Amino acid sequence: MAKSKPAKWTRKHLLGLEDLSAGEIRHLLDAAEEFLPYATGRKAAPQRLKGRTVLNLFCEDSTRTRTSFTLAAERLGARVVQFHAATSSLKKNETLLDTARNIEAMGLDAIVIRHPERGAPEAVAEAVNCSVLNAGDDAHEHPTQALLDFLAMRHKFGRLYHLTVAIVGDIRHSRVARSNLYGLSKLGSRVIFVGPPLFLEGLGDIAAPVETSTDLDAILPECDAVMMLRVQFERHEGVAFDLEDYKRGYPLTAKRLARAKRGAIVLHPGPINRGLEITDEVADGPQSVILHQVTCGVAVRMAALSLCVGALDRERKAAKPSPLTPPLSHKGRGRKKRGLSREGRGRGKSSAGA
Ligand code: CP
Repeated sequence: MAKSKPAKWTRKHLLGLEDLSAGEIRHLLDAAEEFLPYATGRKAAPQRLKGRTVLNLFCEDSTRTRTSFTLAAERLGARVVQFHAATSSLKKNETLLDTARNIEAMGLDAIVIRHPERGAPEAVAEAVNCSVLNAGDDAHEHPTQALLDFLAMRHKFGRLYHLTVAIVGDIRHSRVARSNLYGLSKLGSRVIFVGPPLFLEGLGDIAAPVETSTDLDAILPECDAVMMLRVQFERHEGVAFDLEDYKRGYPLTAKRLARAKRGAIVLHPGPINRGLEITDEVADGPQSVILHQVTCGVAVRMAALSLCVGALDRERKAAKPSPLTPPLSHKGRGRKKRGLSREGRGRGKSSAGA
C-alpha cells in the first residue's frame, strides 16, 4: 500500500479511531515515534506542555492508562491533577458534565477521561472548551491503547498493512478490540475476532466489517500477531460464560502459539489474568511484546496530548475574545506601546509551544 503524506493534525479531541483517517492515525504514530526516546523519562523531553494543566478524570479503575497519561503529561512539563471518582462529589449526585465544567473553570488545557458509560468522553467534549482524550469508555473505544498496539506492531514488522491480527477472547466487552479493528482495517490489515460464540455476540454496534472465528487453532497459522484479551468478569452480569469450555479452546499456550506464523508476536493490553487467557510461558516469552506496548503507551500519549493541545491553542488564538476578557492583556499593551500590531501578537514563540 502506498504511503500517503500524513494528514495535518487539526483535532483538539481524541475520542476514538472510528472517525480518524488512515493519514491521521499515521500522523499520531509518527509523532509518537519522535517521543519514544523520552518515554522512559531517562532523557529530558521537550517541554511542549510547560505551564499547562491536565485533568485525569478516571471514573473506572486503571493502572497502565492513568499512570501512562500522567507520566506523558508530566514529562512534557504539564501539571497533572488526579480526579478520584470514589471520593468526589459524583458521590453526592453531581453530574459528570457539571464536574467537568466546574474543574475546567479552575483552568484546564486537557481532560483525560475513563468512564463506564459509552459516549461519556464525547459528551464531556461537547460541554467544555479544553481538549478531551478518551482513556476508555465502556466497550466502545480506547484509542490510545490501540495506537500503542500499532506502534509496537510497526516496530516488529516495519509496516501496518498486509498483516493478519487475531484478537482473542472477550471481544463482546472489549473497547480495545473495537479501536484496533477501526484502526487496523483503515491501515490495510486484516483483523479476526476469535472467541466462543457468546463473546462474538453483541458486535452490532461496530461500524466496520467484522470477521470472526470460534476456532483459534484453525486461524493461528494465518496470524502475524495474536492479541489476547482479558475475560472481563466484572461485566458478565447475566452472561452465561462457560469457563471450562473457554479453558479448552482459547488460552494461548506455547504449544498453541507454535501454530502461528514464524516470527508472530503476542500482545495483551493488560491487566493479564495469568493462567487464564495466557500462560506465564507465553506472556513472559520471546514472542511477547507486552511490556514494549506499555513503553510505547507513554510515547503515544505524549503525542496525543501535544497534538490535541496544539490544535486547542490554534483554536483559542483564532477565537474572538470573550466580553469578560480585557481587550488587551497587560503583555499586549506593552507590546502595543512598543509598536507591535495586534496581528503581530501570537506569531512569536508560544509559552507552551504545544
Ligand atoms: N490497558 C489498560 O487500559 O490498562 P488499565 O486498565 O490498567 O489502564
